[in-house]
Amino acid sequence: MSSPPALPWLAAVPLATRRLVLRQPGFADVPRLALYAGDIAVARMLVAVPHPYGEAHASAFIGDVLASNLTGSSLALAVARQKEPHALIGVISYSREGRGATIGWWFGRPYWGRGFATEAVTAMAGLAFLDPQIDVLVAGAFADNPGSLRVQEKTGFVRTGESLRRSVARGGEVTQIDMTLTRVAFAALSGRAPGAMGKA
Ligand SMILES: CC(C)(COP(=O)(O)OP(=O)(O)OC[C@H]1O[C@@H](n2cnc3c(N)ncnc32)[C@H](O)[C@@H]1OP(=O)(O)O)[C@@H](O)C(=O)NCCC(=O)NCCS
Repeated sequence: MSSPPALPWLAAVPLATRRLVLRQPGFADVPRLALYAGDIAVARMLVAVPHPYGEAHASAFIGDVLASNLTGSSLALAVARQKEPHALIGVISYSREGRGATIGWWFGRPYWGRGFATEAVTAMAGLAFLDPQIDVLVAGAFADNPGSLRVQEKTGFVRTGESLRRSVARGGEVTQIDMTLTRVAFAALSGRAPGAMGKA
């Protein structure tokens, strides 16, 4: 019998930050997920979210996440405000590849411009680096998404280059600015030892 996968994040979730909580998503999140991810202003900045995006897409996403969160190779969490923990305002996720993990996120349009993405990305980076097998986080943003690039800059990501990515919602290729955050850089920014990431 094979042993279950190591899930270094399990004991840390739900993860509270100053104003937010990062928690396991559930099917109760489907209506808000469909509402906010169904906004073209959100979908067009993402690689994989189709447009239009409805409750069937959202429900399938939740089903996939509930399974894949248990594999140890990826993690997707709902983001909510602490004062309304059941009301999803965004999603943040990472997916492991070798010693790296690709991290992505989005927030519903009513919640932009309040520092929520910066707060959530910092927390998710801390969570990802709990896994000793992850040394670097890979992110990036389409070249016409200065808000996301600024979030990445504020959380310590540095530019590594450019690539062409296909956006399903746009139905074509888009130039992406590639960014990375190393465990060492994150530790230096958050004042922690690189091997000892705790709660963000
Ligand atoms: C990008 C996104 C996550 C930002 O979320 P947010 O909660 O508004 O981000 P924050 O408030 O933490 O930070 C945004 C920063 O970008 C800056 N910013 C926003 N729009 C900008 C623009 N057009 N040009 C330059 N800077 C901009 C803000 O001023 C802020 O920086 P500051 O704190 O130095 O003032 C959100 O807009 C979103 O979900 N967009 C759609 C999906 C998406 O783009 N996901 C990321 C894909 S890479």
